[in-house]
Amino acid sequence: MAILDIVTFPEPSLKKVSEPVETIDDELKTLIENMGETMFHDAGVGLAAPQVGVNRRVVVYDPNAGEEQKDPEDKTFTALINPEILSKSKETFTSENEGCLSIVDYRSDVKRHSSVTVRAMNLDGETIEFEAHGLMSVIMQHEIDHLDGILFIDRISALKRTMYKKKRLKQLKNEQ
Ligand code: NI
Repeated sequence: MAILDIVTFPEPSLKKVSEPVETIDDELKTLIENMGETMFHDAGVGLAAPQVGVNRRVVVYDPNAGEEQKDPEDKTFTALINPEILSKSKETFTSENEGCLSIVDYRSDVKRHSSVTVRAMNLDGETIEFEAHGLMSVIMQHEIDHLDGILFIDRISALKRTMYKKKRLKQLKNEQ
């Protein structure tokens, strides 16, 4: 297993629409294992393959994210292959301080659907379908957006987005 490098904004691969997975082979399983390890290493609750520079429709997430009783040593994650949102609730809410491992040093409130129904394939190639609420609903919307080249900063006001872009470009310039 390995910790993978996270691709950060404004890397162009984050804006690409990712390709569906056709076969679940050892290469894919290794990618998923490494994504899970990387997510916990970087203290994330979800990670999409484009964030490690692989434009394929795969996400991993922490199924225990946000649980008060969560054991910090518990590194169990769930992988979703070719996930899609089948339906979204009309009801929305604001996710507070949403962040992304690919968006360095920035968090924002984001308007999200309160619940979504997701269909995906698991590692055994079985089709699964489930409803996600609250934080899990946010994770699903956020991660599946990544597969379509959409970042959470695309879902905030244009003013806030512009301010973040300026800040990030300045930051990168100073790092040179
Ligand atoms: Ni993200």
